Amino acid sequence: MVFLHFNFSMKKTWWCFIFVTWLCLFSFSDARTELKARHTEHLAQYNHTLALILVEYASAVYLSDLTQLFTWTCSRCGHLTEGFEIIELVVDVEHCLQAFVGVAEDPHAIIIAFRGTNGHSLQNWIEDLYWKQHEINYPDMDDAMVHRGFYTAYHNTTIRPAVLGAVERAKKFYGDIQIIVIGHSMGGAMAAFCALDLTVNKQENKVQVMTFGQPRIGNGVFASLYSELIPNTIRVTHDHDMVPHLPPYYYYLPQKTYQHYPREVWLYNIGLGSLAYRVEKICDGSGEDPSCSRSVSGTSITDHLVYYGLDMKSDDPEACRIVTNSYVQNTSIRDSKGNLILSRDPATPFLQLRR
Ligand SMILES: *[C@@H]1O[C@H](CO)[C@@H](O)[C@H](O)[C@H]1NC(C)=O
Ligand SMILES: *[C@@H]1O[C@H](CO)[C@@H](O)[C@H](O)[C@H]1NC(C)=O
Ligand SMILES: *[C@@H]1O[C@H](CO)[C@@H](O)[C@H](O)[C@H]1NC(C)=O
Repeated sequence: MVFLHFNFSMKKTWWCFIFVTWLCLFSFSDARTELKARHTEHLAQYNHTLALILVEYASAVYLSDLTQLFTWTCSRCGHLTEGFEIIELVVDVEHCLQAFVGVAEDPHAIIIAFRGTNGHSLQNWIEDLYWKQHEINYPDMDDAMVHRGFYTAYHNTTIRPAVLGAVERAKKFYGDIQIIVIGHSMGGAMAAFCALDLTVNKQENKVQVMTFGQPRIGNGVFASLYSELIPNTIRVTHDHDMVPHLPPYYYYLPQKTYQHYPREVWLYNIGLGSLAYRVEKICDGSGEDPSCSRSVSGTSITDHLVYYGLDMKSDDPEACRIVTNSYVQNTSIRDSKGNLILSRDPATPFLQLRR
């Protein structure tokens, strides 16, 4: 009796296993081929020169001295970004977020940059990502699910109205120029939501995205819709950086699993010491190219904090502290929660602010 019963449940388990495997393989390959077929034709082209310029903004947005940022005289405001004119700098003190909007000379574009998670909270944030499954439906997109934390960081804070307002002002002055949205880490996730917001809600059709070490932000349906709406997206990953591996990708939960959108560019090193050189691998249109960062284990925080040799973390261990001088304090607006917005009318000559 006991033996029979055991046998029966073994059989049941076995069938369950076969069924689930079949289900996974089926829906998984289905989603993948769909994504591939639709996007291989108009995949974003990777431009190395442009990446070196854009990573400078993604590094600078981490800085805490708002005066130097606002006047673009900061230590990370290097020669590749010379001539950049900030129009808006926003610090959401409540949620420890920072972003800026400005206009660059080369490429002639509106640049929107988002800061990632700051300082010592990074470790906790990464640990949290292993378990994050709190997803919400992306508005007006059936079955597209996204990470609640990343979504609300952009949509439910001071950041969104400040960014949209600045883009509007910039366009009034500079016309219908290209918009490039960038960010590192969680800032990359916010960049993606911002680009979608501009495309879907503001009918912008010239939005380009480049992110560095960003986590996954939504499910397969979301990834597919995203890449259809913003095909001009490059998602740079670095060697064993652990954040692009999070939240984890589960083969066996095809409907639930987080999935990346294309196009990944994986930076990694070959060789040792003075013989080492960097490879930039342009990945396929699936978003989850098994020969790119997926081919290694995501075990490194160090690799997360350096992209193209630049620091991608705050200069200030006291995360979220604000450094300003009285000039900036007089030009800025603080809301009741202490959030800070520095704005400039694009028509004002920028040099006036350098003092
Ligand atoms: C790459 O980007 C740089 C900097 O914006 C630009 O000057 C160059 O023309 C671009 N190259 C291509 C092939 O688009
Ligand atoms: C955003 O904030 C509002 C009110 O502060 C809240 O009702 C809403 O649920 C929040 N949205 C999300 C997605 O958390
Ligand atoms: C800022 O405002 C204060 C008080 O209104 C004033 O005393 C100070 O001179 C101003 N600073 C600058 C740099 O404009």
